[in-house]
Amino acid sequence: MAGHYEPALLAALLPLITVANPRLLASGRHYVAVTGTGEIAGCGGWSHERPGTGEIEPGLGHIRHFGTHPGWTGRGIGRALLERCLHDNEREGVTCLECYANLNAEGFYRALGFAPVQPVRVSITPQLAMPALLMRRVPNNGVQELLTRVGHGAACSASWPASPNSTTCASSPWRV
Ligand SMILES: CC(C)(COP(=O)(O)OP(=O)(O)OC[C@H]1O[C@@H](n2cnc3c(N)ncnc32)[C@H](O)[C@@H]1OP(=O)(O)O)[C@@H](O)C(=O)NCCC(=O)NCCS
Repeated sequence: MAGHYEPALLAALLPLITVANPRLLASGRHYVAVTGTGEIAGCGGWSHERPGTGEIEPGLGHIRHFGTHPGWTGRGIGRALLERCLHDNEREGVTCLECYANLNAEGFYRALGFAPVQPVRVSITPQLAMPALLMRRVPNNGVQELLTRVGHGAACSASWPASPNSTTCASSPWRV
């Protein structure tokens, strides 16, 4: 995150945004990627509830707390975790996914099919906000959503292509 945030802001943010959320951990929708030697290489999950407000919108999911251990970045851990979430989404009727991407992670989410919607400021405390980007992943590049808006078809009703790794994703913790 250092590339996109001032050191003072980062120093204030990091202790707050890296705290595990017990509700997410207990939700059954949060995963860790575990190496063959038992090392945790990354984590990430999703929720029906919008972070911050808890609001639930049918068909919409929210990416939560993605992170890859610095020693494991660039090796497909984040992608594999996201594919695990997409697998869940399909089962649970979630057809659109949103995330509040920190500015450093925009490229990651773009690589995984998300597109920017708008810049946002995510409230971390009443005094502290993190500049971020609301991003959305709609299958078929939004074509289906557009059809729905003009009265044809169901919102976001496409399935994601099965990942070559998806058969290894059935249990949590998930081994890589
Ligand atoms: C963002 C993060 C989760 C990515 O995890 P990762 O395991 O390194 O990601 P992967 O190796 O699975 O990369 C998946 C794709 O995203 C791309 N990517 C990853 N990080 C990127 C970045 N910072 N900029 C541009 N592209 C990026 C990769 O090139 C890869 O593309 P490809 O599959 O087409 O080759 C990781 O860098 C991280 O933990 N960052 C700090 C915490 C953070 O920002 N979390 C996001 C919270 S919103």
